[in-house]
Amino acid sequence: MGRDALRALDRLLGKDTHSEVFVLGDENTLRHCLPELLGRVPRLREAHTLSVPAGERSKDLAVCADIWNHLAGRAADRHALLVCLGGGVVSDLGGFVAGTYKRGIDCVHVPTSLLGMVDASIGSKTGVDLSGLKNMVGVFHDPLGVYIHIPFLKSLGKRELLNGLAEMIKHGLVWDAQHWEAISAATLHDLDALAPLVQRSAAIKAEVVKKDPREASLRKVLNFGHTIGHGIEAHSWESPQRMLLHGEAVAIGMICEAWLSWRMDLLDRESYDRIATQLMQLYKPYQFDSADGHRFVELMRNDKKNRGGQFRFTLLTAIGSAKVDVPVSAAQVQEALEHYRLLGRP
Ligand SMILES: NC(=O)c1ccc[n+]([C@@H]2O[C@H](COP(=O)([O-])OP(=O)(O)OC[C@H]3O[C@@H](n4cnc5c(N)ncnc54)[C@H](O)[C@@H]3O)[C@@H](O)[C@H]2O)c1
Ligand SMILES: [Zn+2]
Repeated sequence: MGRDALRALDRLLGKDTHSEVFVLGDENTLRHCLPELLGRVPRLREAHTLSVPAGERSKDLAVCADIWNHLAGRAADRHALLVCLGGGVVSDLGGFVAGTYKRGIDCVHVPTSLLGMVDASIGSKTGVDLSGLKNMVGVFHDPLGVYIHIPFLKSLGKRELLNGLAEMIKHGLVWDAQHWEAISAATLHDLDALAPLVQRSAAIKAEVVKKDPREASLRKVLNFGHTIGHGIEAHSWESPQRMLLHGEAVAIGMICEAWLSWRMDLLDRESYDRIATQLMQLYKPYQFDSADGHRFVELMRNDKKNRGGQFRFTLLTAIGSAKVDVPVSAAQVQEALEHYRLLGRP
């Protein structure tokens, strides 16, 4: 991270331990970020570039097959290196392709979206979607490194910035109260002000993952906002004209789950109010019908993380600390959603 991030990547390439280097990006990241990358990492100028269409649809086995074929067509051997230049789609896809081609080749991540920098590129989870279901096929594949270069964010739109910011807010809420305060006080579009906060968030994610790489327990703190958030995300996909981004759904999920934390006597009311106020200011309200409560619960049950009858939530015990595996009933989930629904009303 920081000013020397890409110089460190150039040094890694200078070790010359790889037979051939490939850069994978999507149409946006290759247009907006590749010139800057090649400017700062001269050793990459010889690399072959692979492009996939932008968006979640590229997390697909057919796209993987194209890339595997491309690698094979260029006779890439087990000592090839894949540089993944992009957001979470490119790191999930590229990490999976690298983790499986010839039983695994090296990869590095150069995240270009805010979500990629603070979340998707860290933690070694990779994968693609199957028949419309997210992250159904994948492997854990450790990258050789993750190189975070903040200026890439210059070309990212505000909505995408807010998408990543939701995960940063989550990091503060479950792990570091000071980080949450600093985010609350910051101006988003000022990249100089954002830079140290991005670094802190990436460090929190790395710290949590390091302590629990395979999600036995502690890593579940990162699920805060995601249990209800995934239900909301899936609900929004049922009417394509108002599809939410992941972070937007998680922001609403965090309001609901912070409220549940208060309802279950884990969190004080003042903290809940501060959290809800912050998130309501940043993210536009999502409107739904009171009768939709059942549908949300149904969608949440489809989520692979909710096994068995009851939901297990990560809830807050204070701003900056969380408790995992708290059982929550479907009725309580619906109550939280109803609370949120009324909150969004003028
Ligand atoms: N593996 C993990 O631990 C993990 C964690 C969180 C999310 N994810 C995955 O990450 C994906 C979402 O990531 P995302 O939000 O970065 O999506 P994304 O990769 O699709 O990027 C969002 C959009 O921004 C564009 N973009 C990226 N960087 C840009 C830049 N610097 N300038 C201009 N445009 C740019 C992309 O082309 C795309 O259109 C999901 O598939 C999700 O499942 C994985
Ligand atoms: Zn998330």
